[in-house]
Amino acid sequence: MADNLNAFMENQEVQEVNASKKMRIAIVGTGGIAHSHMHAYLKQPDVEIVAGCDIVPGKAEEFFAEFGMTVKCYTDLDEMLADETLALDAVSVCTYNRQHAPCAIKALRAGLHVLLEKPFTVTTEEALEVMRVEKESGKVLSIGIQPRCDENMIMVRDILRSGVLGKVYYIQTGGGRRRGIPMKQLGKTQTFINEDTAGLGALGDIGCYSLDVVLNGLGYPKPLTVTGYTSAYFGTDPNYCRYVEMGGPELYKEFQVDDFAAGFVRLEGDIILDFRISWACNIDTPGDTIVLGTKGGLRIPSTNCWNGTIGGDLVLYHEVAGKQVETVIPQIFPKKGAPSNVDKKIRTFLDACKNGTKAPVPTDQILYNQLILDYIKKSADAGRELVVDIPEI
Ligand SMILES: NC(=O)c1ccc[n+]([C@@H]2O[C@H](COP(=O)([O-])OP(=O)(O)OC[C@H]3O[C@@H](n4cnc5c(N)ncnc54)[C@H](O)[C@@H]3O)[C@@H](O)[C@H]2O)c1
Repeated sequence: MADNLNAFMENQEVQEVNASKKMRIAIVGTGGIAHSHMHAYLKQPDVEIVAGCDIVPGKAEEFFAEFGMTVKCYTDLDEMLADETLALDAVSVCTYNRQHAPCAIKALRAGLHVLLEKPFTVTTEEALEVMRVEKESGKVLSIGIQPRCDENMIMVRDILRSGVLGKVYYIQTGGGRRRGIPMKQLGKTQTFINEDTAGLGALGDIGCYSLDVVLNGLGYPKPLTVTGYTSAYFGTDPNYCRYVEMGGPELYKEFQVDDFAAGFVRLEGDIILDFRISWACNIDTPGDTIVLGTKGGLRIPSTNCWNGTIGGDLVLYHEVAGKQVETVIPQIFPKKGAPSNVDKKIRTFLDACKNGTKAPVPTDQILYNQLILDYIKKSADAGRELVVDIPEI
């Protein structure tokens, strides 16, 4: 891929932004994550936030008031997109998962660049439809997987790309939490645990990050077959909900997605991917990420809660002068005042829009991430291995 992210990381000390023309941006879906998009946009000298849209009446107005701003607000995305006075260049789509595809498609058809939150979509079919419209539109569509901007993740990517592991044949990835279902934020509506808003649970929410850590470095090999498993023993347990400080005893009745998922995936190039992810399980971690190659192995320590980075030093297992050795690659901590991963996600998206370059997190890679998530769910529902069918776009 044209590595916008790499260029950004290498040049961030000296990068100058041409602010002579401002990008006119709107926020679609003004819930939780929209706040971090706003904080990052407000740091950019070449951005003007001109509108916002949320289907809940009054929510967009309240959201912008938190930032001391008054901008045009809508409850209907079609209406916002039809308002030519806004002269929009791009939107951040921060809606819940089930509304990713419909909102991205509308915005692309309206001729706008789109930064779409993760996971890409819920189903393969939606992802393919978004990609067809993206292709017709010629606009930039980038997926909001900001852990890719983390320096440790970039180190993982570069190790995998360097060839130091030889031929990679086995990946164990995943991770997650012992107790960490995003049940409910106090006083807010719940959108992570319902079928009609989230569609995927831990699998989509943090599974997409976990897959990206390794598959990005390996050039996103195509998935060929998938055996998947999902369960929801914790989310549906009234006793679990008792523990959830901000949840409430009745929430288990609303829980309709997975809180644990596993998959065994054959990837192109004779690579096996062994994946597991959890919002809740009875162990400290479902495992570090490990990558095995013919010349070396890499251990990527898991974090106990996905925060977009690694949980400790990387360890490279290899041979030097015929001896088995381990090289410790120290975890990198961000410098004080450095741009956050979300700042970088926003900046690299803006740069791609302005320069007409490839999206920093492009759909032709994340399609394979989405296929794995979707086929794990479909295989779990079918109770058998499925062959991945990827139609032409
Ligand atoms: N990248 C990250 O670090 C990160 C972190 C949290 C969440 N997310 C992702 O962001 C998305 C949103 O999560 P959230 O926590 O902000 O959820 P949320 O429920 O707090 O916010 C979503 C908002 O979208 C609105 N909405 C839904 N459909 C709409 C439509 N058609 N038009 C306009 N508004 C619409 C809802 O009313 C709601 O206010 C999810 O897909 C989630 O996976 C990403």
